[in-house]
Amino acid sequence: MPDGSSFIFHDLAPGEDSFRDAVLAGLSARPKSLPCKFFYDERGSALFEAICEVPEYYLTRTELAILETKAGAIAEQIGPNCRLVELGSGASRKVRLLLQALQAPLAYVPVDISRGFLREAAAGIAADFPDVEVIAVCTDYTRPFALPKISGPAGKTVGFFPGSTIGNFEPEAVIAFLTHVGKLLGPGAEMLIGADVKKNKAILDAAYNDAQGLNAAFNLNLLHRIRGELDSDIAIGDFAHVAFYNPDEGRVELYIKSLSDQSAVIAGRRFSFSADEMIHTENSYKYAVAEFHALAARAGFRALDTWTDAEGKFAVYYLRRD
Ligand code: TRP
Repeated sequence: MPDGSSFIFHDLAPGEDSFRDAVLAGLSARPKSLPCKFFYDERGSALFEAICEVPEYYLTRTELAILETKAGAIAEQIGPNCRLVELGSGASRKVRLLLQALQAPLAYVPVDISRGFLREAAAGIAADFPDVEVIAVCTDYTRPFALPKISGPAGKTVGFFPGSTIGNFEPEAVIAFLTHVGKLLGPGAEMLIGADVKKNKAILDAAYNDAQGLNAAFNLNLLHRIRGELDSDIAIGDFAHVAFYNPDEGRVELYIKSLSDQSAVIAGRRFSFSADEMIHTENSYKYAVAEFHALAARAGFRALDTWTDAEGKFAVYYLRRD
C-alpha cells in the first residue's frame, strides 16, 4: 500500500480543434444543434457545480443522499481492494462517500475531459485519501482508451458513472456506451450508475429552469465558448435558454432559442438564425427503474441491486456483465 499520498496525471490530450468542427457541423445541420459534450470547459464545469446547489435541481442532492445512506450496501457489493474508475469525474465529490465506505480501496481513476478541474479534484482526493492511489486520466471517456495498470492485491475494477449523465445519451447510445465500458473494464465488468427517474412534469421543468438562472447560464455557455474560442461576434444576449419535459419521449429537451432574426460570424463563416429558431443542445432522458433494467440488459448488464430515495426520485444501479 502506498505510504503517503500518490497522484499520477495522464494527459491523453483530448481533441483540441474538435470544438470548431462540431460547432460548424451542428449549425450547418437542419434543425441546428450544438454538441452537449462541450458544455464542460472550466467555466461550464463551475456553472454545473453551481446548478447542483440550486433548490430546484434535486438530482445531485438526491443521488448524494442515496450514496450516503446506502454506502454500506454498496461497499459490500464492491468488496475489498477495488479499483474505482469514474467516468466524467467533475469535482470528484460523490466518490468521497464511496471511498470512505469501501474496504481498503486500492486506486481511484478519475477520467475527465476538463483538464484543470480534473487536476484539482484528483489532487484533493489524493490528499484526503493517502492510502488510495489516484491516477487521473484526461480524455474523452466516450472514446476508446486504455486503463492504467494498477498493481496490488486482487479486487474488482468497478466503473462509477453518477450524475445521470447516462440520461444525456440516446437510448441506443446507452447500449453502445455500456458495451464500450464493459470492454474497458473486462470480463465480469461491474458498474455503479446513477440515473434520474421519470416523474411529474412540473418538477422536471423546474429542475431545468431554476429561478437563479444557472441552468440558463450553463446552456448559454456554449455561446460564450463560441465567442471566446471561434473568433465570433455572436450576440449572446439575443438568445435564450429553453428546457421542458417531453413526456412522449420521456426526456427533458434543452435548446438555445434565437430571440430575433439575426446572423453571426463563427470561424470565418456566417450563420443566420430566425426569430424563435431553436438550436438543440441536449436531451436528458428519465427512466422508470424497470425501463432502465431493460435497457442495461440489452448491453448484457444485469442489476444486482437498485437503490432509490424514499420518494423514488432518483436511482442508483449496481450492474454486472456476466
Ligand atoms: N447532465 C445534466 C442533466 O441532464 C445536464 C444539465 C443540467 C443541463 N442542466 C442543464 C444541460 C441545462 C443543459 C442545460 O441533468
